[in-house]
Amino acid sequence: MNAAVPYLDLAAQLRPIRAEVDAAIARTLDNNSFCLGPDVAQFEKDFARFCGAQHCLGMNSGTSALHIALLLLGVGPGDEVITTPYTFVATSWAISYVGAKPVYVDIDATFNLDPALVERAITPRTKAILPVHLYGHPCDMDALLAIGKKHNLPLVEDACQAHGAKYKGRTVGTLGSISAFSFYPAKNLGAAGEGGALVTNDAAFAARAKSLREHGSTKRYHHDEVGFNYRMEGLQGAVLGVKLKHLAQWQAGRRRVAARYAELLAGTPLQLPQQADYAESAWHLYTVRHARRDELKKFLDENGVGNAVHYPMPLHLQKCYASLGYQPGDFPVAERASREVLSLPMFAELTDAQLERVAAVVSGFFHKHP
Ligand SMILES: Cc1ncc(COP(=O)(O)O)c(C=O)c1O
Repeated sequence: MNAAVPYLDLAAQLRPIRAEVDAAIARTLDNNSFCLGPDVAQFEKDFARFCGAQHCLGMNSGTSALHIALLLLGVGPGDEVITTPYTFVATSWAISYVGAKPVYVDIDATFNLDPALVERAITPRTKAILPVHLYGHPCDMDALLAIGKKHNLPLVEDACQAHGAKYKGRTVGTLGSISAFSFYPAKNLGAAGEGGALVTNDAAFAARAKSLREHGSTKRYHHDEVGFNYRMEGLQGAVLGVKLKHLAQWQAGRRRVAARYAELLAGTPLQLPQQADYAESAWHLYTVRHARRDELKKFLDENGVGNAVHYPMPLHLQKCYASLGYQPGDFPVAERASREVLSLPMFAELTDAQLERVAAVVSGFFHKHP
């Protein structure tokens, strides 16, 4: 009987750092800094340094960071934001939360916004471009930034899946005006609960974001504008501070896994993820493609190989966005991807035996169903 291979094994990640995490949690409990506090402040400094950015503001989620980013840019009712239909829904939530309209543009072979299609979607109402570094693979930022510059449109990077990914050697999250990261537990850098961050090089944006996340105030019980309770919890800052020290090593582990999959799966009919020549992926997900995805998924399920579909339905076809009026066929590349993608187990602690087991089951599927 072959052992099951989990899709994700957070316990394996925690085991070697458990004492450090426990100590950080105990420190927070002892100093009672539950909302923001010194551990969050230290993490903000450390994560800003990690990104090579001037400012980082800890938030309670990546969704909140995206929301604040669009508020900072003055996006509001009647405005349009160009974005991808092929992402986790929270990217579009931010646009909806400020009362603006998501305008979708199809993706390219990297699963990211296709820069060649962006310009024709710009209207006088367009206020920003919101690309996503999906699966940890950077967007073609120079192409997008050139369009932004030409039309005077700021870029917000959704870097929620892309901690430490590099575009032409530069860390993503510092290339646009503002970026958002998620520390949802399954992310490359995950909290022990919800968490996120807004990253920017603009001091004025950072100052206003700091106020907006804390009830629109810089002085207690004095509220300059309507704000939010989007503060990062002290416990999350403490846990993230510990985990950030290990991130480089975990990233190396993910690169090892991706490279090993590339060797082990090379002879199969699967379409494997490729890195564009400008990209150093964070390998948040290892997402393969095949026309018979659903059968393959069932086979992996039956044989104890964890897997997931990111994402089965593009956002333009979601019920919540029916009022936007999009139809099936509007974004053929995204729609086809949603039928073909399958994410295989991807985490730093995967052993060679586990990777070989995944590959053996995948090969078994194609032998059984040639
Ligand atoms: C691409 C993308 N955008 C936004 C989010 C939202 O982040 P959070 O779950 O921290 O709100 C996520 C993660 O869940 C994501 O993957």
